[in-house]
Amino acid sequence: MAQEVRSATPLNPTFPALADIVPSFRLDGHVTVVTGAAGGLAHTLCQALVSQGSQLALLDLKLESLEFVRKELELFQVQNNITPVEISLWACDISNADEVEMIVKSIPGSHQGIVPQKLVHTAGFCQNINAHEYDAAKAQMLVNVNLLGSLYICQSMSRLLLAKRIRRKSISSDVHESGEMMPQFPEASFVLIGSMSGLIVNTPQPQCAYNMSKAGVIHLVKSLAAEWAKYGIRVNAISPGYIATALTKKVISLSPEGAALQKEWIDRIPIGRMAEPKEFVGSMLYLLSKSASSYTTGENMVVDGGYVCW
Ligand SMILES: NC(=O)c1ccc[n+]([C@@H]2O[C@H](COP(=O)([O-])OP(=O)(O)OC[C@H]3O[C@@H](n4cnc5c(N)ncnc54)[C@H](O)[C@@H]3O)[C@@H](O)[C@H]2O)c1
Repeated sequence: MAQEVRSATPLNPTFPALADIVPSFRLDGHVTVVTGAAGGLAHTLCQALVSQGSQLALLDLKLESLEFVRKELELFQVQNNITPVEISLWACDISNADEVEMIVKSIPGSHQGIVPQKLVHTAGFCQNINAHEYDAAKAQMLVNVNLLGSLYICQSMSRLLLAKRIRRKSISSDVHESGEMMPQFPEASFVLIGSMSGLIVNTPQPQCAYNMSKAGVIHLVKSLAAEWAKYGIRVNAISPGYIATALTKKVISLSPEGAALQKEWIDRIPIGRMAEPKEFVGSMLYLLSKSASSYTTGENMVVDGGYVCW
């Protein structure tokens, strides 16, 4: 009699509910903290976040630019028949640890007491200065914003979460035998925008401080991921290649140098073009989703059209 061939299929196959195996990218009931929220990349990421039902706490340097962002998001919701979500605005210099701490602690007060468990950290900037001419104070400021700012926002958000931990003495399913709590925040996911510049050296423009700051962000993500996995807090990076935001498109179209620079960049991109901001939505939603990426932490997702392959 022919033997039944099951290969790797278990002898007693189970048939889970669809919701157990097909990921959901909905973020209803969550507050996502978005830094650099007035920026070009954040513009599209915020639209995706509200479309998935997330409330937003928007942080950037100037309140006026955030008010503009909120108005645009409100219009976006109306035009797309999206149920409006709470959007709070916070003027914040991400390189100021005390300011970041104070603001993060205040966020639940504007969102029905919900402690934010999702972070999309885009705040950052680039300077194109020759290494031998780089003024120390300028380089320090860039590192303070791009690298230390990344640490500060993650620290403040994790502190707020950990303050909510309840220590139980009894050995139960969520207490390790050492007495340490097992992961308590399986929904917590921090997504930091790194850059391919943390992996390669861009050319022809010089930007050593930016490159080193982004290399630091990628390793910070791994360090925090390893340390906080025991709490259930996942930390990942998305490293974009060149993005055609409204700002970069304008810079490129306004000057012959801009057009020449764009040609140099594009010649080095296997896919042969710059990215559109919407091309980062998928990786962001994947990393934020508990059901899609519960086993992904410390990862640096490079979304660069293949730039780092050559
Ligand atoms: N645009 C690209 O081609 C590209 C490529 C790779 C990585 N990135 C990274 O993506 C992220 C977003 O880039 P973007 O193109 O949207 O840039 P952007 O300049 O449009 O947006 C960045 C935002 O960060 C804010 N910001 C700057 N310093 C801050 C501070 N000290 N505190 C709080 N907010 C501050 C700015 O006000 C701005 O709104 C950045 O981290 C950038 O390094 C961009």
